[in-house]
Amino acid sequence: MLTDGPPIPPVDGPFGVYVHVPFCSVRCGYCDFNTYTADELGEGATRASYADTAIAEIELAARMLAAHGDLPTVETVFFGGGTPTQLPSADLVRVLDALGSTFGLDPGAEVTTEANPDSVTPASLAELRDGGFTRISFGVQSAVPHVLATLDRTHDPARVPEAVRWAREAGFDQLSVDLIYGTPGESLDDWSASLDHALALEPDHVSAYALIVEEGTALARRVTRGEIAAPDDDLMADKYLMADDVLTSAGLGWYELSNWARDDAARCRHNLLYWHSADWLGIGPGAHSHVGGVRWWNVKHPAAYAQRLAAGESPMHDHEVLDPSTSVLERVMLEARLREGLPLGILEGGRGAVPGLTDRGLVQVTGDHLVLTREGRLLADAVVRDLTP
Ligand SMILES: C[S@@+](CC[C@H](N)C(=O)[O-])C[C@H]1O[C@@H](n2cnc3c(N)ncnc32)[C@H](O)[C@@H]1O
Ligand code: SF4
Repeated sequence: MLTDGPPIPPVDGPFGVYVHVPFCSVRCGYCDFNTYTADELGEGATRASYADTAIAEIELAARMLAAHGDLPTVETVFFGGGTPTQLPSADLVRVLDALGSTFGLDPGAEVTTEANPDSVTPASLAELRDGGFTRISFGVQSAVPHVLATLDRTHDPARVPEAVRWAREAGFDQLSVDLIYGTPGESLDDWSASLDHALALEPDHVSAYALIVEEGTALARRVTRGEIAAPDDDLMADKYLMADDVLTSAGLGWYELSNWARDDAARCRHNLLYWHSADWLGIGPGAHSHVGGVRWWNVKHPAAYAQRLAAGESPMHDHEVLDPSTSVLERVMLEARLREGLPLGILEGGRGAVPGLTDRGLVQVTGDHLVLTREGRLLADAVVRDLTP
C-alpha cells in the first residue's frame, strides 16, 4: 500500500482485489509461491491474527485511494495462496465483508477462492457460499497417485469428487479445476486419465499449467541431483495438444493459453482483469498492486507484514512507475495469450514480424487483432519475442 511513493492515478475501469493467504499444511516440492507451513512461519505472524491484519491493510488502502474522491467499487475478488481454505471460513468472510464495507462490492461481483481438496468440509464450503463467495478453484493437479506423490500433493484423488459434490451442494455453480502436466514420470496415458478425472467433475473452467521447475525448490534439487528427469519439451507439447483436444471436445473452449471455459460467463473475470492490464489492489504479504501504470508490492514475510500494520504503517516494500514502452511490452506479452488476441494497433516495431509469423502458421490476423494459432500457442514465448524486438 503506497503512502510515500508517487501519487497514484485514480482507478479507471474495472477494479479487482487479490487477497493473498500465505499458509499451507505442507509445501509441495515444485511450488515457489510466497507461502509457509506452520513450522516455517516462525514468530510474529499467526493464522489466527491474519484476517485482522489483512482488514487493517484494506482500511489503510481505502484511505489512500479515497484521496481521489469516490472509492472504486470492487468487481472481482480473488483469494489465492498459499491455501486460503487453511483459514476458517469465518475469517475469509470477514475479510470479504471488510472489502464490502470500505470499497463496496458490486452486486454481481465474482468472488473466487482457491482451495485444496483436503482443506474443505461441507460446513466450511456452505459458510463461504453464504458469506458471498461465488466461485471456487480446486487444486487437483493430477488423478494419478505416482504423479501426485512426485508433486508432494497430500490429497487422495478419491477425495476430489466428494469435495466437488460438497461445493455444489453449498451452491457453488462456478467451479474450476487446476491441473499440472509434465511432471517427471507422467505418461501420456497418465495425463489422459487426469483430464478424464477433471472432466468427470463437470467443472465450468479448467486451468492446465505446464510444470515449471522453479529454482530453489525441492523439485529443482531432485532434478539437479539426477533423481528425476527434467520435464521433456516434446512431451509437454503433446500434452498441451491433448488437453486442448479433450477439453474442447467436452465443450470447454480455450480463452487464454492455459485456461479453458464452458462459455464466456465461465471465464475468470479476475484473471481477465490482470491480462488486460486493468487496476487491482493486492492485499497480503508479497501481494502486488497496479493502478494506472503505478505498480507496488508488499513486504514478503508474513511477520514483517504483520509488524508494519500493527504499527499503523504501510506494508509497501517498493514501487515502480511503468514507462510507456514497458506498458506496451507487457500488453503484448499478456494479450497475445488471449483467444481474442492482440490489438494490432499496439504493436510498434513488432509489426514487421507479423507476415513471417503468419507464413509460419503461428498467428492469424482476425479483423484488427492478431491471434495465436494452435501451433502458435505451443510457441507463444517465441512469438512474443518476435513481436517485441
Ligand atoms: C499457488 S497454487 C494455490 C492453490 C492451492 N494451494 C493448490 O495448490 O491447489 C495455484 C496453482 O498454481 C499452480 N502451480 C504452482 N506452482 C507451479 C509450478 N511450479 N508449475 C506449474 N504450476 C504451478 C498449481 O496448479 C496450483 O493449483
Ligand atoms: S498447496 Fe498450493 S500454494 Fe501450497 S505449496 Fe502446494 S501448490 Fe504451493
